[in-house]
Amino acid sequence: MPDIAVTVNGQQRPLVGTPAHATALDWLRDSGLSGSKEGCAEGECGACAMLLATPTADGGTAWTPVNACLVPVYALDGQEVVTAEGLGSPEDLHPVQEKLAEAGGSQCGYCTPGFACSMAGEYYRADRTPIEATDAADGPCPVHDPEHGPNGFDLHALSGNLCRCTGYRPIRDAAYTLGSPEADDPLQQRLAQPAPEPVATDAEVDGARFVRPASLVEALRILQEEKDALLVAGSTDWGVEVNIRGRRAPLVVAIEQLPELRTLTIEDAVVEIGAALPLSEVEKRLDGRIPLLAQLFPQFASRLIRNRGTFGGNLGTGSPIGDTPPALLALRASVVLASLAEGGSGVVLREVDLADYFTGYRQTVKRADELIRAIRIPLPLATTTAFHKIAKRRFDDISSVAVAFALDIDGGIVTGATIGLGGVAATPLRARATEDALIGKPWNIVTVKAAAEILRGEGTPMSDHRASSEYRSLMLNTALLKLYSATVIESKEVSA
Ligand SMILES: Cc1cc2nc3c(=O)[nH]c(=O)nc-3n(C[C@H](O)[C@H](O)[C@H](O)COP(=O)(O)OP(=O)(O)OC[C@H]3O[C@@H](n4cnc5c(N)ncnc54)[C@H](O)[C@@H]3O)c2cc1C
Ligand code: FES
Ligand code: FES
Repeated sequence: MPDIAVTVNGQQRPLVGTPAHATALDWLRDSGLSGSKEGCAEGECGACAMLLATPTADGGTAWTPVNACLVPVYALDGQEVVTAEGLGSPEDLHPVQEKLAEAGGSQCGYCTPGFACSMAGEYYRADRTPIEATDAADGPCPVHDPEHGPNGFDLHALSGNLCRCTGYRPIRDAAYTLGSPEADDPLQQRLAQPAPEPVATDAEVDGARFVRPASLVEALRILQEEKDALLVAGSTDWGVEVNIRGRRAPLVVAIEQLPELRTLTIEDAVVEIGAALPLSEVEKRLDGRIPLLAQLFPQFASRLIRNRGTFGGNLGTGSPIGDTPPALLALRASVVLASLAEGGSGVVLREVDLADYFTGYRQTVKRADELIRAIRIPLPLATTTAFHKIAKRRFDDISSVAVAFALDIDGGIVTGATIGLGGVAATPLRARATEDALIGKPWNIVTVKAAAEILRGEGTPMSDHRASSEYRSLMLNTALLKLYSATVIESKEVSA
């Protein structure tokens, strides 16, 4: 068996004797690469960001920033990463480091390596287009688009990086003055080559094992045979459990590189999304095709988290406050579960309506020998959709309440309504009584006010550190009124 090793800044480094639960951050720092910092160890601050070589649709590579504090280092076997040390040195700064220094974008410097890596990911993004290069008359205005620089830099790329002392304007200034990579830049040249292939891994250290199965059948066989096996995809939930709650698993099974879990197909009657495709990849490939999800993605954690987090992981936790279940419930989605066929050589799939998937607090119909292979969203989509996430911060926060609406309004009458709720009961749920109160009624303020009163009483909201039960009920109530106002404003704009 070849050595288990990770390529860091162009140099192969073996993982000898590293504990099975070790994170990439701990391993990097223990290896002397202390550029990546630990601010929180739970994916909140971005001080640990590093670049991971990931495959692109055209067979090349992208430099994708991820949180090193959450990724198990064994998940990087055979993979390639770049840390702040690999971008440039004090004698030969990388353009992102140079711009950060020139703009005064670093004071204590603790956050700077992470910012540099997130910024470098955006610097090398193949479809980053300077606004001057587009037709300025038709394109977005460089002054009035609050989320992009004139160089096409997407500010959301920094949404997972926090700085406690510099203030964000100099950092933004640095990002907005970045040019384009030179043709002889080695990290730019690397993008034309394929990303490393997934590598089957089986490592056991001190009785704890990390396995990356070579195939879906092998993954399912492990699930069937090993009752202690724990699946891990992006590890954005599991990494927090390991770091903050000290959880350890005797057997971790990494599934995020299984090709069957990374598909995305759009057919006439259904969109199917692989359970282990990172959310940012889903966002890119759908390109607004499902407006409800297009509204959800920017509100889900940060870009750093979305670069690893998956639908499978969000549904796999069974959490009542995950953001994708309300949206997927409104979209009438189903979950495709896979298990090993009798005889052990094939895969059995079963499809479960998401509305029947959750059975109790963090409990689902998924059996221990099953994994989520995909989610399926039926087409056509409802014509009026909205996703409302009520949280303490606009970005990078967990929902207190999430409400997703999918309505069909035809000739002023509501002909269809599905409403998904999160954060108001032990499970995500459909607001069935509200749906019934809307269907067949005229879409006007009388109907909406009556239905909003019903929506206020859906679920069994509880009080916790995020919000009181009264606040949660009130937020449900106002969400429908807000949707109604948005549709009225929109129709006025269309007729004006
Ligand atoms: C800073 C931060 C911010 C966050 N913000 C949000 C947010 O705004 N909204 C939100 O909803 N969540 C948020 N999360 C939680 C997390 O990012 C999501 O739940 C994410 O979707 C998990 O995906 P993952 O692939 O990383 O899961 P993992 O951590 O790999 O796995 C999570 C669980 O799901 C199981 N699992 C994974 N894949 C599968 C599969 N295919 N089949 C069956 N089981 C599976 C695993 O066994 C594990 O129990 C945040 C997390 C962090 C650290
Ligand atoms: S250390 Fe804070 S996100 Fe990793
Ligand atoms: S420069 Fe000090 S935390 Fe950002």
